[in-house]
Amino acid sequence: MTSAATALAPRETPKVPGLPLLGSVLDMAKDPARFFLDCYRKYGPVCRLKVLGENYVLISGVEAANLMGTRDGKECLRSKEFWEGLVGEYGATRVLTGSDGEAHKQLRDIMRHGYSKESIKGRYNELVKITDGAFARDWPVGTEVPVLQAMQYLVVDQLGTILTGAAPLEYVKDIRITILHILNVLVTRQRPKILLKRPIYKKSKARVFELGYTMIEQAKARYGKVPEDQRNLIDDIYAAHVETPEVMPASDLIVSLTGPYVAGLDTVANTISAVVYSVLKHPEVKARVLAEVDALFDKGEINEETFMKELPALNGAIMETMRLYPIAVAQMRTATKDFVFEGHQIHEGEMIYIGTSVPHFMGEYWPEPEKFDIDRYAKPRAEHMQPGVYSPYGRGPHTCLGKSLAEVQMAISMARIFYRLDMELESPDYVLKTKTAPTPGPANDFKVRVKGLRH
Ligand code: HEM
Repeated sequence: MTSAATALAPRETPKVPGLPLLGSVLDMAKDPARFFLDCYRKYGPVCRLKVLGENYVLISGVEAANLMGTRDGKECLRSKEFWEGLVGEYGATRVLTGSDGEAHKQLRDIMRHGYSKESIKGRYNELVKITDGAFARDWPVGTEVPVLQAMQYLVVDQLGTILTGAAPLEYVKDIRITILHILNVLVTRQRPKILLKRPIYKKSKARVFELGYTMIEQAKARYGKVPEDQRNLIDDIYAAHVETPEVMPASDLIVSLTGPYVAGLDTVANTISAVVYSVLKHPEVKARVLAEVDALFDKGEINEETFMKELPALNGAIMETMRLYPIAVAQMRTATKDFVFEGHQIHEGEMIYIGTSVPHFMGEYWPEPEKFDIDRYAKPRAEHMQPGVYSPYGRGPHTCLGKSLAEVQMAISMARIFYRLDMELESPDYVLKTKTAPTPGPANDFKVRVKGLRH
């Protein structure tokens, strides 16, 4: 990348043809990962497109992914504008995902411990129990289970208990509807604003606020009474409010306290639903995963020190699923100043999609990229280690704060589901249908048949 001052004459940036008014929204809604890959192949690393009347620059390829973590990337890209609508909906002043620079660092520091795998140290076996409880509740033997919905309840159960101290299952639908509307309309802007006037949205948002107020009361009651090493995310956020109200004012509490559900619900539920599909679809992978999880749990309780290392096939399957079904197809930013990327002039204030998932599908980096190959990640192949080719958790300053936690949460959930349940797809030929909004993932009607209990 070069600054505008030192650049040679910029290249002409290709424009993606689109429909009047709609622009490229239909192609994006159909399959955003495919759309961004096609744009890269056809137009190169930089092109311009329209979505519902708004202009965007799309930059992709490994150079774009690598840019995000560099000093130039930090100076030229900011997140603020994309999250402004959400901040406004909550009546807040700022939110972690939409903060930049020093303010962002302050919020990340407050939430780092609560969102990390350290916060679940000593609680892996409790997560197993929560997961088992979800099987008893949502996965009856002899039925066809709607996977995505069942996973949403599982994730709220797990995240609620571990990060906030309570599992608000009665709010799952409200959280889902609120996230769906806010992300679609205000963040990714793929749907018109009129949708925010729907009574169902207003009712759900009011319920999420009700949950937020309850969480504030609970945090208030715990403040000062919980030993340092037992504080959860909610305790840390509330302590920051009391001790540094200029960083965490009262107006920002609800959006911060309910944050784990926005950040962790669809991301994990969609990914682990796709893992279930991918493993059941590939019998040779399934056999390896079953052997591994049987060996793990037949020994009794989980050993936290060795747990992740004991599941190479399962973790390979999770990583491969995240390559092929990335929940964050692109990251959205605004240009903080004029800059030149790959010879193309980008102007201050332009909205940018950074197609970080584009390299996931490129044969240049992944031999047979369409093949579900769980051994790509082990040394010596380690295909994901090539710079810029694998970004399921994003890149740069906003890289997923819950990554280490999500990895353990997903490994426990998947290890346990394959250990406990004997499942099959509708038919061996079944091909996963996907949805794209607000977060790409398996369609709501993806079901598996629970044939019986393995253990
Ligand atoms: C499959 C699992 C997950 C995936 C693929 C994922 C992916 C991502 C991505 C791509 C971003 C960056 C967004 C951007 O740059 O605009 C992000 C941010 C974030 N994620 Fe995750 N995530 C996952 C699970 C979780 C979980 C379980 C939590 C915690 C409960 C979490 C907490 C966060 C937070 C707090 C941020 C904002 C970080 C910041 O703005 O500084 N994520 N995640």
